[in-house]
Amino acid sequence: MALTINQIHPVFVGEVSGVDLTKPLSRDEAVAIEEGMNRYGVLVFRDQNITDEQQVAFTKNFGDLEVKEKPGNIRKAAESRLGAGISDLSNLTKDGQIISADDRQWFFKLGDRLWHSDSSYAVIPAKFSALSARAVPSWGGNTDFADMRAAYDALDDRTKAEAEDLICEHSLIYSRAAVGFTDLTPEEIANFKPVRQRLVRTHQVTGRKSLFLSSHAGAIVGWTIPEARSYLRELTEHATQREFVYSHQWRQYDLVMWDNRTTMHRAKRFDRNEVRDMRRTTLGGDSPTVEQAEAA
Ligand code: OGA
Ligand code: MN
Repeated sequence: MALTINQIHPVFVGEVSGVDLTKPLSRDEAVAIEEGMNRYGVLVFRDQNITDEQQVAFTKNFGDLEVKEKPGNIRKAAESRLGAGISDLSNLTKDGQIISADDRQWFFKLGDRLWHSDSSYAVIPAKFSALSARAVPSWGGNTDFADMRAAYDALDDRTKAEAEDLICEHSLIYSRAAVGFTDLTPEEIANFKPVRQRLVRTHQVTGRKSLFLSSHAGAIVGWTIPEARSYLRELTEHATQREFVYSHQWRQYDLVMWDNRTTMHRAKRFDRNEVRDMRRTTLGGDSPTVEQAEAA
């Protein structure tokens, strides 16, 4: 069966059918999926009962996996439930038990409930993320996506001009503080040193501009913090209006892949006593969005 993509939301998101992600992709399939990502920003694949190795192999069709030694890694590889190349987005410990409510791992995960773009706190932010649902709770736990190209297009001209050359500072310190989690170790604080990102990005292939927002953004270079925070909040509210948002209701064995350069996402609430086993592969971006400041 030939690969087809149907748009399932008025402004973005395609659902892909006619492809089996447990098998190596043909060149044509890989090209069609990459073009689909450029066009739709988010692609949904249903009924893909894949292994971790198959997920890694699928993801590598579109670039190199993000390097593991990045500031967001609060866990050493040996403490992970999963093997190399796969991030654990579940609510489970290494031993497969549900993480307790007061575990700081859980506090970090709760930060994902704010709108964000993966690794925007890293000098080179992520390209695509692919999330595979291995076990889903009986209620809730959707992932919401917002189209940052449509959000950019809908800005008025004055705001577009104002935003064009702004540089934001992104850090896990800001996004975790936003959920009230400030109990970071000195080592974490040093690791989470803010990085600079352009606020307006241009997609290399499509030439479309998008807003590069994320809950990790907590400052704008040259602005006071209150001015920056209120501005970023206003833009985020604009960008996550219902018309730009798709809410993915997970079924077991769904795989959803998104472009972090053109979309934001967030996790939604579920019963934390039920298992939600989600596994992510992530592609690194190819360059910083802007030069970093000289080390002080
Ligand atoms: C992610 C993420 C949200 C979710 O995988 O990067 O933010 O719903 N996931 O688990
Ligand atoms: Mn994420």
